[in-house]
Amino acid sequence: MSPDFDALRRRFPVLERKTYLNSGSYCALADTVRDAINAYMEDRLMVGANWDVWVAKNEAVRALMAQVLRAQADEIAVTASASAGINALASACDFSGERNKVVISDFEFPTNAQIWHAQEQRGARVVHVPRAADGYIPLESFARAIDEQTQIVAVTHVCFRNGAMLDVAGIARLAHAKGAKIMLDCYQSVGALTVDVKRLDVDFAVGGMLKYLLGTAGLGFLYVRGELVRSLHPSHTGWFAQENIAAMDITANRPSPTARRFEAGTPAVVNCYAVEAGLKIIQEVGTDAIEARVRKLTELCMARLEDIGWPSITPRPQHRHGPMVCVRARQVDQLFWKLMAEDIVCSFRDDNLRATFHFYNNEEDVEALVGALARHRAQFQ
Ligand SMILES: Cc1ncc(COP(=O)(O)O)c(C=O)c1O
Repeated sequence: MSPDFDALRRRFPVLERKTYLNSGSYCALADTVRDAINAYMEDRLMVGANWDVWVAKNEAVRALMAQVLRAQADEIAVTASASAGINALASACDFSGERNKVVISDFEFPTNAQIWHAQEQRGARVVHVPRAADGYIPLESFARAIDEQTQIVAVTHVCFRNGAMLDVAGIARLAHAKGAKIMLDCYQSVGALTVDVKRLDVDFAVGGMLKYLLGTAGLGFLYVRGELVRSLHPSHTGWFAQENIAAMDITANRPSPTARRFEAGTPAVVNCYAVEAGLKIIQEVGTDAIEARVRKLTELCMARLEDIGWPSITPRPQHRHGPMVCVRARQVDQLFWKLMAEDIVCSFRDDNLRATFHFYNNEEDVEALVGALARHRAQFQ
């Protein structure tokens, strides 16, 4: 049975007042996520330091995140951000030998380029796969860049600038054929699409909780394929990454046998409350149902944009886009503020206005956006 999207929509109060097409920046806040944050405050007021509950919350986030990615809990590190996960992974890479190449793409979010470039001081060579003339990055371009010297291919799933989605399973095949590993940055897809790390066959995946996972800022995740965990020794570490956190041993670093070895210090407790509640909604609705809903809305949006003669620059085929639809605009910042004045919340990067969809959006949101763009068509570039 299909979820009751109208009832679900009512759980996000901001949607009564705004056309909210900004989940790719920060999700709408759900009633149960607000209640969870309030529950943390109650704990602090009434109990003080409720450590048993807090540790359980952190583990609940790990277990739920594993379910979302269709992985095992032991394969998930709960991190402070996507950047923290990438840093921990990079710290476990050895760039001193022949296999010192890192392949990234022109579609990366800055952090997934900057952190790998920071490894140049440790011997890494970072190669960028360029976009083709049509703005997309086809598999052939990755095939040219990935070779026997490639240690890791670190790529985004959906590009934060233009909404284009890469062929991750294809890139994983290319990487593995050359003996390289692949890390997926799925921050712009996870929660809105089904991201099945086993089916995609990626070795690592990072993201965070404040966008389509319905949580809050200050928490991310790193998935590490189970078979690889024990072979990797992050130097970005801390006491919460140890095999026995309670040992308080200052004589050695004894990493956890699980992906927890990629964690560091005290978990962000209040964020765990919020994120647990957000992930429960994702699980309740189900990522397959969410993806079907999001695809219906993005398809409608792209078709309606063509009707008004302001076509999206995001690739139209379903296998080439995710939850984001972009249009190019003249003075896009002005357009953004005009839409804000009409209670339509989008975002922009480069010259692109970005509309990002979640299951709580509906056809009326699409019409509100398209109607407003038709009125502001002078800004069509
Ligand atoms: C694709 C992508 N990767 C990484 C990040 C950065 O994540 P964090 O701030 O958690 O390091 C973002 C944030 O918007 C993103 O969209």
